Amino acid sequence: MIHTIRVHAEHEYDVVVGCDWQSILKDSIDSYTRVALVYSSAMRDHIKGFKPDNTEIHYFEVADGEGAKTSQSLQSLWNWLGAAGFTRSDAVVGIGGGTITDLAGFAAASWLRGIDWIAVPTTVAGMVDAAIGGKTGINSDYGKNLIGAFHSPQKVLIDTSWLTTLSDRDFAAGLAEVVKCGFIMDGKILDLVNGKGVAEIRGDASLVQDLITRSVAVKAHVVGSDFKESFGREVLNYGHTLGHAIEIHSKYSLRHGEAVSIGLIFAAELAGVKGLLDSKSIQLHKQILTSLGLPTTYPRDSWQHLYPLLALDKKSRGHQLRFVGLSAIGETLRIEDANESELAAAYERISS
Ligand SMILES: NC(=O)c1ccc[n+]([C@@H]2O[C@H](COP(=O)([O-])OP(=O)(O)OC[C@H]3O[C@@H](n4cnc5c(N)ncnc54)[C@H](O)[C@@H]3O)[C@@H](O)[C@H]2O)c1
Repeated sequence: MIHTIRVHAEHEYDVVVGCDWQSILKDSIDSYTRVALVYSSAMRDHIKGFKPDNTEIHYFEVADGEGAKTSQSLQSLWNWLGAAGFTRSDAVVGIGGGTITDLAGFAAASWLRGIDWIAVPTTVAGMVDAAIGGKTGINSDYGKNLIGAFHSPQKVLIDTSWLTTLSDRDFAAGLAEVVKCGFIMDGKILDLVNGKGVAEIRGDASLVQDLITRSVAVKAHVVGSDFKESFGREVLNYGHTLGHAIEIHSKYSLRHGEAVSIGLIFAAELAGVKGLLDSKSIQLHKQILTSLGLPTTYPRDSWQHLYPLLALDKKSRGHQLRFVGLSAIGETLRIEDANESELAAAYERISS
């Protein structure tokens, strides 16, 4: 069954969950003269068969994973768009995980100061997070996602059949963002995943679709109320403050969602240290993320390296660290007054 969720951003657009991407994409690009399909080598075989009747398609293959989100990739895309004569009435389509939709969206944002683009996410993380919300960008030598633009797609087409080839590891990593949506806003998500492992979840197509639809609805709701990220949108960063530090510290050997999983437990423990969140809710974080096979601890002796990295978080203001916390399931708050010993105490509880 198809679910359509409307996102209210700088323009309104639909996220279509449960569709056949090829047929909807053909209809969606009918009015453009030229379309650039941006994909990585990993998706090549799936893209080849896509041949619409009326639109001129240009196939632009880029590196896989974070290798796509480089200034060199973007430069290549600009050159290809230029050589193919892309105008303001043409469009870009990004087909792939979050790395590809981030790159394709930013190429669309920057070409001729902004042309239309459509996202076809193929990972759980892309479907519930990266493709929705209008943040596009690439990495810099100084950190992830430092160069970018807010530029919402015209449409997001979610075809869950992509997920059959996704590794269990990437599937579980994407579920960390789904679980986050459960904790910050939609507690029903937690009921749906609690006690289940990845195999059980991915084996139940209607459950997968329900989880994706609910998570998209959470993101659409938050983005609609705060497109350019003041505190409203910051709730989506629940678990991400330590998560980002862990990503950097692990030199990206952990998936984003794996680092966020540890960060979610840390955020819950921090709220516990500050007397804001009860132990049952903290335990629920550990229980759900453990049964998904996601990491929930990090080495004790890494704290001295992680603590300085926390200051790089986008939510920090001056010397003040800010965390998104919970006072109950679905009740978010801002923690701005955590001192060094409280942070160390919370970290001690997630240390291995
Ligand atoms: N713009 C945003 O708001 C936002 C939000 C969250 C994450 N992100 C970004 O998204 C990226 C992470 O996204 P990701 O986890 O999708 O990573 P990814 O794009 O690197 O994909 C992970 C791996 O899965 C493979 N893959 C993709 N689809 C597949 C499929 N259907 N079957 C088999 N393999 C497949 C890819 O080739 C890749 O090797 C990060 O760069 C992150 O910064 C952006």
